[in-house]
Amino acid sequence: ASTLAAAAQQSGRYFGTAIAAGRLGDQTYTTIANREFDMITAENEMKIDATEPNRGQFNFSAGDRVYNWAVQNGKRVRGHTLAWHSQQPGWMQALSGSSLRQAMINHINGVMGHYRGKIYAWDVVNEAYADGNSGGRRDSNLQRTGNDWIEVAFRTARAADPSAKLCYNDYNIDNWNWAKTQGVYNMVRDFKQRGVPIDCVGLQSHFNSNSPYNSNYRTTIQSFAALGVDVQITELDIQGGSATTYANVVNDCLAVPRCTGITVWGVRDSDSWLGAGASPLLFDGNGNKKAAYNSVLNAL
Ligand code: XIL
Repeated sequence: ASTLAAAAQQSGRYFGTAIAAGRLGDQTYTTIANREFDMITAENEMKIDATEPNRGQFNFSAGDRVYNWAVQNGKRVRGHTLAWHSQQPGWMQALSGSSLRQAMINHINGVMGHYRGKIYAWDVVNEAYADGNSGGRRDSNLQRTGNDWIEVAFRTARAADPSAKLCYNDYNIDNWNWAKTQGVYNMVRDFKQRGVPIDCVGLQSHFNSNSPYNSNYRTTIQSFAALGVDVQITELDIQGGSATTYANVVNDCLAVPRCTGITVWGVRDSDSWLGAGASPLLFDGNGNKKAAYNSVLNAL
């Protein structure tokens, strides 16, 4: 195969990228994105502040630009994200308690209703666990509505669009030895035992010197999969862009049948949220394939 998407399809997987609506007028960007990737995540356009800027008033203009570009080019779409402490509109930041809980439910229904039947997988809840050694939940306005907020989000999501896979997505849950990974693992195991609807775990996999790739990544993927959920690598970038590390990530996913696809968090280094200096992606700022690109293509 000569593209990332075609190579991933050989094993029934996908290879995706994050797309920013504001870059869709850049022909170098769209040419690479259209050629190489078959799964699209809106980098910001389906987040809470974008889709419900005022309470009860939904705006899908930017989200639809990304969605329509993807579908018109034959690609599937991951939905990102419905319940998160970050990128909340001001009105939501100001809420608490039962009114915030209801606003979360209404938001899930509004956004999933708009895209009903059209999304491969939704990141229903994003980044709900704390960094560090606690293995527990992150403090947030959503967490303060009650510990059951995550399962309420997932039950709401299942009813709003039964055709979408429902994912829990987080960063720093790549290293099997980390308390945060174990915290999320225990939540997913509990959800599966109690019949709370969850279909997938998203490993963001933003690797850098503080959270480096570790060879136990494969154990993490295998362990989540063994609970009966798919695993998706949802926001991959590697500070420094090591070709070897990129190959390791791909090989670890391919080793687990339920690791269904990989998404990199941007097209060119110059598109990355980390800045081009981090050199974290597969194409350089001129759109040229990097060593990491060839390494990924060969591993797929
Ligand atoms: C980032 C985007 O890439 C930036 O453009 C934005 O300013 C902040 O959010 N985890 C996530 C993503 O789940 O939504 C984040 O995306 C990166 C970290």
